Amino acid sequence: MPAPLLMEPTPMNADPFVDDLIRERRSKRGFLDRNVPLDTVKDILSVAKYAPSSSNTQPWRCYVVTGEARERVTRAAVAEFRANHATLAPEYPFFPQPLHDPYSSRFNTFRGQLGDAQGVHRSDKAGRMRDVERQFLFFDAPVGLIFTMDRKLEWASFLCYGCFLQNVMLAAKARGLDTCPQQIWSLQHHVLRAELGIPAEEMVIAGMSMGWADNSLPENRMTLHKLDLDHFASFIHQ
Ligand SMILES: Cc1cc2nc3c(=O)[nH]c(=O)nc-3n(C[C@H](O)[C@H](O)[C@H](O)COP(=O)(O)O)c2cc1C
Repeated sequence: MPAPLLMEPTPMNADPFVDDLIRERRSKRGFLDRNVPLDTVKDILSVAKYAPSSSNTQPWRCYVVTGEARERVTRAAVAEFRANHATLAPEYPFFPQPLHDPYSSRFNTFRGQLGDAQGVHRSDKAGRMRDVERQFLFFDAPVGLIFTMDRKLEWASFLCYGCFLQNVMLAAKARGLDTCPQQIWSLQHHVLRAELGIPAEEMVIAGMSMGWADNSLPENRMTLHKLDLDHFASFIHQ
């Protein structure tokens, strides 16, 4: 048990380890060919499960995909993407159509930055397809995670799920590993259901790549703008 914090909770007294983990976690889109022991993944999930959830309902369920299974799933997902990319649809809506501002501008800024880092211009359709395919290879990460949730649950459980996913990413980071959360895997729910035996009652929410980031890649060294406090917080005194 850590010693209780008896000091005033000033920024100077904040646990630098936790703050640094939160700041340094970044979505990585390229991984080294280096193994991650399964025990490490079990360890990460065993910590992540302490996430808060509404009335302790713990709506998360995850499928850890490694080795032969990872090969099988990625092969099937890439084949599905090549054959049916125009009609693949997620199990739940990602964004309103059309997406409005300010989200639309942030979305476009991010996509532009990622495309520049990957060396793919917006007009380069084949290049963009190749990049999306890499999502379905877990960006070469040795560990793929697929997250599902009972489809009868409501929006509140998505909040709980977000807490859990962040815990997974921070616990991985604390062990030197990096991650990329990937909602895009929801587009592959049919393939995942068939390959992993996911029951119909479970909705595929997202996937996640996990491994040792290849930080020589420009897309893994992007600096993204995070909004200043006064853009998202209001402090009301009276
Ligand atoms: C719920 C969720 C879903 C995401 N889905 C994807 C995805 O499908 N593919 C991807 O490359 N990144 C995905 N991301 C990563 C975001 O693009 C990334 O978090 C965002 O650009 C901010 O970058 P950062 O994580 O490095 O701070 C997702 C992130 C979240 C939180």
